[in-house]
Amino acid sequence: MKVLVVGSGAREHALAWRLSVDSDVEAVYCAPGNAGTEAVARNVPVAPTDVPRLVQAARDLRIDLVVVGPEAPLVAGLVDALGEAGIDAFGPTAAAARLEGSKAFAKTLMQRAGIPTAPFAVFENAEAAVAHLRAVGKPLVVKADGLAAGKGVVVPDSVDHAIEVVRRFMEQRALGEAGARVVLEERLEGPEISYHVLTDGERFVPLEPAQDHKRLLDGDRGPNTGGMGAYSPPPRVDAATRRAFDTRIVAPVLAAMREAGRPLRGALFVGAMLVRGEPYVLEFNVRFGDPECECLLVRWKGPFARRLRDAARGRLGPDPVECGAPASVAVVMAAPGYPENPRRGLPIEGVERAAELPDVHVFHAGTARRDGRLVSDGGRVLAITATGIDVDAAAARAYEAAGHIRMEGAQMRSDIAWQARTR
Ligand code: AMP
Ligand code: GLY
Repeated sequence: MKVLVVGSGAREHALAWRLSVDSDVEAVYCAPGNAGTEAVARNVPVAPTDVPRLVQAARDLRIDLVVVGPEAPLVAGLVDALGEAGIDAFGPTAAAARLEGSKAFAKTLMQRAGIPTAPFAVFENAEAAVAHLRAVGKPLVVKADGLAAGKGVVVPDSVDHAIEVVRRFMEQRALGEAGARVVLEERLEGPEISYHVLTDGERFVPLEPAQDHKRLLDGDRGPNTGGMGAYSPPPRVDAATRRAFDTRIVAPVLAAMREAGRPLRGALFVGAMLVRGEPYVLEFNVRFGDPECECLLVRWKGPFARRLRDAARGRLGPDPVECGAPASVAVVMAAPGYPENPRRGLPIEGVERAAELPDVHVFHAGTARRDGRLVSDGGRVLAITATGIDVDAAAARAYEAAGHIRMEGAQMRSDIAWQARTR
């Protein structure tokens, strides 16, 4: 199979790497990729949302399977356009990607399907939203309806703060059209789990649970980010909890999407909170999480490309995905200024030495090569990922590898996987 990966983050580097070691894969391409994907794929300089040029590139390169990493091309209809061109693509159609692209759509679907999620209300008018906040008298969570690259959700600490966010999103349009509509929902408390399945719309195969770290700083403090690290498996997700994910969330949402005429193919990522041990959905994503994907792929054993193609073609088999390593940890190194204003062009040293350590993969995100030198070229720069016999061992190895890497002003949490670590 010739495979084209779409995207340029560490998730896409991990996808390209895993495909490159798959016995069913003869060539891997990445559009546009980064300085790391170069080593395992051929980079194709086309932007992830340039749908016509991506379809053309897939035709020219005689691609058998396109694997779409980020949400924007899915919402833009890349999979639909590839389908019209007769090219298999792993990922949902634009109609199905609405599950991630509109929080109001997702919440309403969950409510209809009886899927556990926080009580909510949808508003198209700022004054009505403000009146609702005043009437409820609690700082409800404010969510912009549309895609906002991780900036669309605020968990406010007071009613006044919630009102200010509503005005910023709805009146000042701080997020553009994404904030024209908002969801206000009850705040839940508990540990967050990232639960992924592969699906062909009908059947699904669960992957190992993972946990993300959204806040910038140690101790889960500081602003929200795209994710500063992840690990797998998290504690507290026993067989009964996984069954609850499968039977109360995944099966009903896939059925509801079919009934809505929007069958969902690809990766479904359930972002959930465990409230007294029961999963409640915070959000659905229709793609792999980043950095969760890095943690899942370094543990993945057995066929990969074939499973993705089967899901894309609507005939996913029931075989479970096997795990090689028992645990994995990904630690993100971000540029100074991330998430607001990351500095680009900073030299990065020591990646080769880090990557030589056993059980380590250094996945690139915002990197580029200038005059032969590796430099930062985005907010999240590297996802330093390691496997181990348990989470402690994987975390120790990931941090050992990170210790070899130098970038001026680098931001990196030192406590990734703290919920599972005993040392
Ligand atoms: P989302 O994009 O919906 O996953 O929200 C981003 C982050 O906001 C989540 O990872 C949670 O940490 C937080 N969050 C979202 N919804 C809630 C909620 N109902 N209660 C508490 N925290 C929430
Ligand atoms: N790590 C969370 C996400 O990819 O949305």
